[in-house]
Amino acid sequence: MSTTQPTPSRVAVYPGTFDPLTNGHVDIIQRGSHLFDEIVVAVLVNAEKAPLFSVDERVAIIQDVFAERPNVQVDTFDGLLVDYARRKRATAIVRGLRAVSDFEYEFQMALMNRRLEAEIETVFMMPAEQYTYISSRLIKEVFMLGAPVSGLVPPLVEDRLHAKQASLRHGLAHSRKA
Ligand code: PNS
Repeated sequence: MSTTQPTPSRVAVYPGTFDPLTNGHVDIIQRGSHLFDEIVVAVLVNAEKAPLFSVDERVAIIQDVFAERPNVQVDTFDGLLVDYARRKRATAIVRGLRAVSDFEYEFQMALMNRRLEAEIETVFMMPAEQYTYISSRLIKEVFMLGAPVSGLVPPLVEDRLHAKQASLRHGLAHSRKA
């Protein structure tokens, strides 16, 4: 008599700063959600950096954009990525590779993570060509200098960028008056 064993679900963690989420990230998350049963978008809680969006804001944005995809989960993590991935029972870490310039940093991280946890594989995915030059840093820079970013980030992120810019200007005007 043969018993049917339940197929273990394949979980991947997609870690990053996501300040803010770009269409390049969205593309990688969509690709990952087709490859894995569950993909956990894990936002790094990094006290050292001065982010534009708080961790809560970044999590809310990603949750909103992927509200219709039940196998995309959003979470935060701190400490070692491999410890977090182990806790989530993930078998893979997903990273996007845009260009050769990404390679060295990603190669170092993948090999260090493998040394720390040999059971977790890093899987690299390439975003669609039109997103290969986008980074969160460039988006913030050009937006704050007045350039349009539509088509490069989800519409929700564009709205949040406008709101953030307005609140920064408001704060600046108040501090000048004081
Ligand atoms: O989107 P980013 O900022 O390039 O993501 C970098 C991230 C979050 C993947 C990396 O900084 C990270 O994994 N940090 C957690 C601490 C850790 O495990 N460091 C060792 C990695 S080899």
